[in-house]
Amino acid sequence: MNINTFYQMKREKRKISMVTAYDYWSARLINMSDINCILVGDSLAMVMHGHKTTIQATPSMMATHIEMVAKGAPDKFIIGDMPFLSFRKGREYALDTVQQLIQAGAHAVKLEEVTGHEEIIEHIINSGVPVMGHLGLTPQSIHQLGGYKVQAKDAEAQKILFNKAKTLHKLGCFSLVLECVPSDIADCITKELPIPVIGIGAGANVDGQVLVLHDMLGLNNTFSPKFIRQYLNGEDLIINACNQFDQDCKNMSFPGPKESY
Ligand code: KIV
Repeated sequence: MNINTFYQMKREKRKISMVTAYDYWSARLINMSDINCILVGDSLAMVMHGHKTTIQATPSMMATHIEMVAKGAPDKFIIGDMPFLSFRKGREYALDTVQQLIQAGAHAVKLEEVTGHEEIIEHIINSGVPVMGHLGLTPQSIHQLGGYKVQAKDAEAQKILFNKAKTLHKLGCFSLVLECVPSDIADCITKELPIPVIGIGAGANVDGQVLVLHDMLGLNNTFSPKFIRQYLNGEDLIINACNQFDQDCKNMSFPGPKESY
């Protein structure tokens, strides 16, 4: 997979699947799956580091996790998230962050929103690095948005979203994530843009879907927004396996003769 495959899949109306990965072992498993591409999302600040928001992600944190993922998934196209404010501190800081992410093993970067950083997006692309946009619910602006909620619900907000999506395409982004927006507007944007639109909570009529791996595998049953489909009850399976091991240790059924020297 490369950026040309993204365009080709859109043209051929083949859906794109993307999941997050943050470490070597999960990347290794995804590498063996049919999933098209991996996002090393700044959601790792919450999922892996236990922070309350994605705001705590830093360039070095992102680069460390990208390096792990790149080792585990050498056959997949990897997109790395530009963390909070990294593209708002001037060209040098933004390019330094891009350098860290790409040298760690990402093939493209993703950055949230567009207003005010059009010039930086163009500069990153002109520097030879593919950029994926991200509109709708943009978690780095959580305090400005006033909470994790569906965006662009009225006609005026939908017009603004539509124009932002067109701007991202004009600037040269190779694709776009649309998060938590009504299906109708996601559908309109998908039809309008020649680049693939990857949705999360954006309905079925987009060009692809992305989910956080841990949500999809049911590894945190306390988090269950409407847009998630759980493909495994990972939390229960892992806790049951741990409890089984605990029991086997305590009743001395582990190790048995086959597991002993
Ligand atoms: O950081 C992330 O995981 C993301 C996805 C939810 C799109 O940006």
